[in-house]
Formats: sequence, structure tokens, C-alpha cells
Amino acid sequence: MDSPGGAAAEDQQEFAGRVKSFFESAPPLVDGENVSKKIAGFISRNRGGEADRVVCVTSGGTTVPLEQRCVRYIDNFSSGHRGATSTEYFVKAGYAVIFLHRRGAYQPYCRYLPEDSFLDFFEVTEGSAIRVCESHAKEVTRAIRDYRAAVDGGLLLKVPFTSIFEYLQILQIVAGSMKPLGSFGMFYLAAAVSDFYVPWESMAEHKIQSAGGPLDMRLAPVPKMLSLLRKEWAPMAFCISFKLETDSDILLKKADMALRKYGMHVVVANELSTRKKEVVVVTDTGKVKVRTDEQHREVEEKLIDLLIEQHSHYIEESEKDAVNG
Ligand code: PMT
Repeated sequence: MDSPGGAAAEDQQEFAGRVKSFFESAPPLVDGENVSKKIAGFISRNRGGEADRVVCVTSGGTTVPLEQRCVRYIDNFSSGHRGATSTEYFVKAGYAVIFLHRRGAYQPYCRYLPEDSFLDFFEVTEGSAIRVCESHAKEVTRAIRDYRAAVDGGLLLKVPFTSIFEYLQILQIVAGSMKPLGSFGMFYLAAAVSDFYVPWESMAEHKIQSAGGPLDMRLAPVPKMLSLLRKEWAPMAFCISFKLETDSDILLKKADMALRKYGMHVVVANELSTRKKEVVVVTDTGKVKVRTDEQHREVEEKLIDLLIEQHSHYIEESEKDAVNG
């Protein structure tokens, strides 16, 4: 009979095998060297600098391609609003932000753009010059000013992804570069990450033909990289993951489970229909509900304040631990 230790070791081995096969079968990251360089440069410029603290905000949904020359894919719901909004509040608080986002999802400082037509903001003058309409001048000016301040101040790096392969490869690169920051690094994992994928080597190369009748496809589970991130990739970083459910009866139980199972410092629980108004911050010391208020402050504004407080406490404790050996 297997001892509990033996069973755990077997589970770990099986998990390690799934991680290995995920990365080995993934198509190489396009322009991977350049992406790595940009990330490493951004982190080293901010290390010990004015910002000092660096957060990787992940945002938007990952896709699962069904064909290597992809025509069809499975998508994960996320508009990217949470990540874009949170990025603005982190920058405002002085954090340097790596915004790892789904291409085409909401962007910081222009969150209104995907819904309103960009063209509605401008008009052509008699001399054929283009100017911002008076009705939108205030918000456009503010957006440009804040965006430029973030980018020119070296506090915002935007890195795009589309597929689950790209997302996890880039997350691993970011984590490796963040490792030297120790407790000053933070991961804010708001992206909606696919749970299943088609391994590259078993994926059809060309567009799947409908003449073949019903589509029979086997999806492999995506290894949850959260525990790897905590244990190996960046073990000292402060890690916040999100838990999304549509059934409020199971939400907090699942958030508690994620906290323990993946060793997260914080799990932010949200329900799909109320996610813009309310979230619950779950830690090993309890649960705090964060809501929008009468002043219509966004839920992210209060959430980021609270998380920064917890991050500061975590840094203090880590430094005490380091001094005490
Ligand atoms: O973008 P918006 O429209 O504003 O919506 C925001 C949001 C609802 C998407 C966001 O607040 C949120 O809840 N994001 C996480 C959604 C999600 O994928 O939850 P999950 O329960 O499937 O995963 C939990 C955590 O595990 C996530 O932090 C995810 O990054 C991580 N995960 C998931 C699957 C996987 N294979 N590996 C992972 O690491």
C-alpha cells in the first residue's frame, strides 16, 4: 500500500510531467527573445528605483486554438475591464506595472474605447485638421496625460497575449525576471485562464472540415501553474489570484480552497453578474467585502488600496524574517 507521502510524490511527478509536456508541446513564442529583453529591462530599471514595487497584472481571457493554422478557437470570458482599471490604480499608487493582457481587450486609460466609437471623439475642422470634440475634450485630455505620465515615467509595460500557450510562456518569463525582487514583486492574476487545451502535436494543422460529420475532440487539462508560480517561479512574490463563479453558493468555498491549495496570499472572489459592484477579499485571516459606494468609486479603487496595505505588511514581515534568519 502507498504511504500518504508516496501518493503525494506520485501526484507531484504526474503534475511535473503535465507541466513539461505543456511547455514542450507549445509553439515557440513569436519574438520571444525581444519579449524577454523588454520585461527584464523594465524590471531592472524599476528595481531599487523610485517605484521599487512591481506588479504583474494579467487581464482578459486566453484562447485555445483548435487548429495549428488557427481558424477556430475556444475562448474564455473576460472583457479585461478589471485588469485595465486595476492597472490605473496601481500606477497611481506608484507601482510599476507589467500589464499582461489579451490583444483587443480593455486597455488602461482608454477603457471607454471598445464600447464608444473612437471616431465620435474627433471632428474635422474647415482647414481639414483633426481636433477633439469639445464634448469629449476633458476625458481625452485626462486619458492622454495619465497614459503618457505612466509610460514616460517608466511605470507601465504592456505585453499582449492571445492563446493559452503565449500566456503561460510569458507568465513564466515575467516570474523569472521578478524573482530577484523578492517580496517587492506582486502577481495580480485577473486573467481568465483556460482549463483545457488541445496539445499542439495532436492538433489538426489545417482548418477542420465540417464534411467529416460531428467533431470529436479530446482536450487535455491545463496544469494550474499557480502552485508552480508560488513554489518555484517567484516564491517570495505576493500572489493574488481571482476566483470567478456564477453560483454564489459555492464561490467562497472555492476561494478558500484556492487559497490553501495553491498557497495564494489573497484570493479575490467575484460572481459574474455582480463583479463590477462587489468582490470578497479572502485571506487566511478572514474575508472582507469590498463594494462600490455612494460616491460611485470603482470597486478596484478600494480593492487596490486594501491589497497594497496587505502587500506592505507582507514586505515588512518578510524583512523581519530575513533579519531573524
Ligand atoms: O475582465 P472582466 O470582464 O472585468 O472580468 C473580470 C474577471 C471576472 C474575469 C476577473 O475578476 C476574474 O475573476 N478572473 C479570474 C477568472 C478565472 O479564470 O477564474 P478561475 O476560477 O477559472 O481560475 C482561478 C485562478 O486560477 C485565476 O487567477 C487564474 O488565473 C488561475 N488559473 C486558472 C486556470 C488555469 N489552468 N491556470 C491558472 O493559473
